[in-house]
Amino acid sequence: MDYSYFMTEVAKRRRPATTRELTKIAYSAPKDTISLAEGMPNEETFPFTEISVKLYDGSSFTLDDSELGAALQYIPTQGYPPLVQALREFQRRAHAPPLWESRDIVVVSGSQDGLSKALEAIIGTGDPILVPELFYPGVEVVVAPHKAELITIPEDDDGPVPEILREILRNRELSGGKMPKVMYINATGTNPTGIIIPLERRKEIYRIACEYNFLLLDDDPYCFMHFGKEEPKSFLSLDTEGRVIRLDSFSKVISSGIRLGFMTAAAPLIASVELHLQSSHLHAPTLSQVIMYKLLKNWGYDGLMQHYMRLRCFYKKRRDVISALAHKHLNGLVDFKVPKGGFFLWIKVRGIENTWKMLMQRGVTDGVIMAPGAAFMSDPTKTCNAIRASFAKASYEEMDLALERLAQLIRMELTENYIENIDT
Ligand SMILES: Cc1ncc(COP(=O)(O)O)c(C=O)c1O
Repeated sequence: MDYSYFMTEVAKRRRPATTRELTKIAYSAPKDTISLAEGMPNEETFPFTEISVKLYDGSSFTLDDSELGAALQYIPTQGYPPLVQALREFQRRAHAPPLWESRDIVVVSGSQDGLSKALEAIIGTGDPILVPELFYPGVEVVVAPHKAELITIPEDDDGPVPEILREILRNRELSGGKMPKVMYINATGTNPTGIIIPLERRKEIYRIACEYNFLLLDDDPYCFMHFGKEEPKSFLSLDTEGRVIRLDSFSKVISSGIRLGFMTAAAPLIASVELHLQSSHLHAPTLSQVIMYKLLKNWGYDGLMQHYMRLRCFYKKRRDVISALAHKHLNGLVDFKVPKGGFFLWIKVRGIENTWKMLMQRGVTDGVIMAPGAAFMSDPTKTCNAIRASFAKASYEEMDLALERLAQLIRMELTENYIENIDT
């Protein structure tokens, strides 16, 4: 595949920084090589002498002298080499991606970092991008300054509808419009709707991507947070042509403050993102990467999967609680589907056209903060009757109170609308 077709002129003009390349060379050089090339500070001057980490399962690890030195130092842009290797092995086992030898990995500072770097490699001024009707707003903030054209694909309860996607693309091609080079997708436990795109639909979307030659950017931070028995099959595992850019994040499953994620894609795309990283923050934080590596080494693949299973049970229970509370407080006022994964309940309010003002003004003063649905649309100034409520963090008592307050808010809004309609 010719990946240069997908890249912007800016991305194609990126060049490696010599000093960064030397760090990479020095890292993999034989032990007796002496490097005076880099601007690394001397670790002896750092005030930290030991970092120990205790885990909830009772185990612990300490960064020994050489690990501590490495953890506090610059590293190659791609990531802490032992972690990069561990992540490669993890990806291989978790997704068994076809064409594995032609793919690479780069460690990024969370999905958002990967998302922005991947999109900025592909989206030039005014370029089109395919997005689901409702999607994570972190995409819009990246592409809006590039005046990207957001082509929204209508959704049903299973995500973007393939037949409509194909029709939109067919019409666009017939009318000679600029064809999109990428589709953003968030297939499992979608933010904000909590859906999981079923396998057949994933396959069909992938087929359309091959037919119309675009890349699929699968932002999958809730991959291991699905509440069904079956493990959703990732787009990466279906990718026989090398057109999936997969984003994994440790934010929801290990810690969001550790700011770590990783991108898996065809090697030329990863190389382009790596060059972008060289021009921004050089590499994702080393201390986080070393801690993550030690954790992976300590737990192994099976230990990590056990941890994910524990999270799944934890959040599933919360999902069940918020669904029951929504029935209790919002019956007759709203419609919602029980989320199949992720962190969010998507609530559609009956009889109210737009939830924005209700939440952003009265909600805030009345002690309940939830995200208005319009925030997840390509044009947030449009009306949307939905609300996104997170069930991840609040206590059960807080969730109970929040939904009770939401019910009051909706009733007040409905009454006001009713009075206004009588007056006019
Ligand atoms: C779909 C989606 N993508 C990306 C992110 C950003 O995650 P990270 O902390 O890994 O940057 C989030 C966070 O809420 C998200 O829901």
